[in-house]
Amino acid sequence: MADPSVKYQTVDDLRRRARRRTPRFAWEYLDSGEGDERASTRNTQCLQQVLLTPRFLRGELEPDISTELFGVRYSLPVGIAPVGLTGLVWPGADLTLARTAARCTIPYVASTVNTADVAVAGPKAEGMGWFQLYPPRDTGVRQDLLDRSREAGFTVLVVTADVPARARRERQTRERVSMPPRITPRHVTQAALRPAWTLGLLRNGLPRFHTLERYVDRSTLKQLAGFVGASLGGTLSWDYLAETCQLWPGPVVVKGILHPDDAERCIDTGADAVVVSNHGGRQLDAAPAAIEALGPIVERIASRVPVLFDGGIRGGLDIARALALGADFTLSARAFMYGLCALGDRGAEFVASMFEQQLTSVMHQLGCDRLNELRDRDPRFAPA
Ligand SMILES: Cc1cc2nc3c(=O)[nH]c(=O)nc-3n(C[C@H](O)[C@H](O)[C@H](O)COP(=O)(O)O)c2cc1C
Repeated sequence: MADPSVKYQTVDDLRRRARRRTPRFAWEYLDSGEGDERASTRNTQCLQQVLLTPRFLRGELEPDISTELFGVRYSLPVGIAPVGLTGLVWPGADLTLARTAARCTIPYVASTVNTADVAVAGPKAEGMGWFQLYPPRDTGVRQDLLDRSREAGFTVLVVTADVPARARRERQTRERVSMPPRITPRHVTQAALRPAWTLGLLRNGLPRFHTLERYVDRSTLKQLAGFVGASLGGTLSWDYLAETCQLWPGPVVVKGILHPDDAERCIDTGADAVVVSNHGGRQLDAAPAAIEALGPIVERIASRVPVLFDGGIRGGLDIARALALGADFTLSARAFMYGLCALGDRGAEFVASMFEQQLTSVMHQLGCDRLNELRDRDPRFAPA
């Protein structure tokens, strides 16, 4: 096989191959947004509008792109964002992502609705695991999930705020993608055209919500579907967040914040950071691009706590743009998943290495040795 680092120069190159290797229903689930998909498109387009001004004559540069967050030094200022139903997108994805995080020294955020048990995925991440919570209605379930994830080695709790109810994702619905996954005859036909995915499924078994199954009386798919729908949505309030912050011994990050008032109140309520995010454009099509929301939130809370960012990151330059606009750290979901679907087990690591090379090159071009110097490169949106 040709050297992938020559053939796949960008995340877009990987995306094209990923599409050819993934059954249609899995692809539509991964790639789609909500409604007309303007918010997910806006995320990438607005990031591309961010201009940075290089500074020259700085002599020999040795860019250091490692960064410290919550007392841990990460090799890159980007982590793997939570992705639910991971094993449907690519069989075995959860454990591969956890191992990738350990090898690359970057965070791996395990979703509440991922398809590996937290007890299995946690140790594979070797201290790089963060646990993402969709707030359960039953506080006993919340306590148990937090206990299990902490015991499994997850260090940071990410509470997702931006799913007050299930979103309408039309492409996904058309392809009959359900929670939990149900494989229909139509899916079998689509899978037959994608042998690498199907072989992976035969090796790993049908994707199941291993972390959640114990909370339903008998783990029939039907009961679990009811549980996910009825128990994990619409619960989050300021009181619920305050209690959750008390229950977790480590840092708590609230994910999906777009308004500076909400960001400030998260911190006043006990959170240690926020992720500025519109859920990759998967919840509300009218939401602003995440990068547009970043500046005002940084202005309001960055003197007190770290600000994280996700939405539309497709390369090292995008990471630099977000950091230049004040983010301390970034997360990426689809880019890592495109890598995994395109290249299998080594795909997510390939993306991490692509990000590393691209970001280092951007630092050279901009005349920066340290990540915090990016903020002095006059970040601004190109005039429309
Ligand atoms: C297929 C898919 C599943 C996702 N599942 C979750 C999830 O379970 N929990 C969560 O907090 N965010 C979830 N997200 C949102 C991502 O964590 C992240 O906020 C967003 O996708 C970032 O945008 P990007 O995909 O352009 O990097 C999901 C995103 C995708 C694409």
